[in-house]
Amino acid sequence: MARLKPGRYICFHAFEPIFRWLGESTFKETNMQDINEVEGKVAIVTGAASGIGRAITDLLVACGAYVVAEDIDPAVEALAGPRVAPLVADISADGSAEKAVALAVDRFSRLDLLVNNAGIIINKCVVDMSRDDWERIMNVNVTGAFLHSREAMKAMIPQRSGAIVNVASYASYFAFRTIAAYTASKGALAQLTRTLALEAIEYGIRVNAVGSGDVLTNILNKVAPDGNGVAALATHGEGAPIGRAANPEEIAEVVLFLASERASFMVGSVVMADGGMSVRVGA
Ligand SMILES: NC(=O)c1ccc[n+]([C@@H]2O[C@H](COP(=O)([O-])OP(=O)(O)OC[C@H]3O[C@@H](n4cnc5c(N)ncnc54)[C@H](O)[C@@H]3O)[C@@H](O)[C@H]2O)c1
Repeated sequence: MARLKPGRYICFHAFEPIFRWLGESTFKETNMQDINEVEGKVAIVTGAASGIGRAITDLLVACGAYVVAEDIDPAVEALAGPRVAPLVADISADGSAEKAVALAVDRFSRLDLLVNNAGIIINKCVVDMSRDDWERIMNVNVTGAFLHSREAMKAMIPQRSGAIVNVASYASYFAFRTIAAYTASKGALAQLTRTLALEAIEYGIRVNAVGSGDVLTNILNKVAPDGNGVAALATHGEGAPIGRAANPEEIAEVVLFLASERASFMVGSVVMADGGMSVRVGA
């Protein structure tokens, strides 16, 4: 029932059959089952050689998209195929974003989607951290995403459509000892997401992020005491309410959703996919 003014109500139950008919006919026209999330779309995925970026690339291709797979690691070249154009580049270097967008347009004719996924971490207390350490993290995790978003927007604006998905973290919100540069960078990425979303939606471009929890990837390999970053993530993940870390494919599914028209009303969201880690704080 809707309240019109104090003491006067209108009962919508009488109109239910009409609403149901309207709803069903609308549903038939835009049958949700017929929305193929990303078939034929052209994407850039950064950090595509391994972990979450690799899973995102594989899922997009499986759904019929074309991908420029960018990574600093030449191993990304192994992904080359009819639907994947690899690009070996440092996302924080001048010109790499321009190269990625040009490759998407030259090879696949357009650009519909950017996934800012590449990221690095360093494990040092603030007092031990050099300026170079700090700047390297910021350059890759924030500046790389900024540069790629800027260049992608230039290609998407004339189309008046597109989506940008950033891979943020529960570290965008919460503090962890010894990774101050990382948490600061992921906090900045969340704010870039929200602010760019306001600017981009004017052109029909949606910008969102996934706030990932612990995922079984190699990201900690260089910083884990014994070099076994996957084991460290598995152990940390056991502290989440779900009792485990995620597989990269579970984060890729959220990225696919945010990239697709199924997320058509989502603008500037940082969607947590962290096994409940962020809702458990304090418990
Ligand atoms: N694994 C986790 O627990 C976790 C949790 C939250 C967020 N994330 C985020 O997920 C993203 C992907 O990380 P991952 O866990 O898959 O790690 P990963 O190390 O498996 O993958 C990161 C990829 O980025 C690439 N890369 C690093 N620096 C680059 C640069 N300058 N230019 C281009 N490519 C570069 C690496 O070569 C690698 O292939 C990162 O942004 C990370 O912060 C990961």
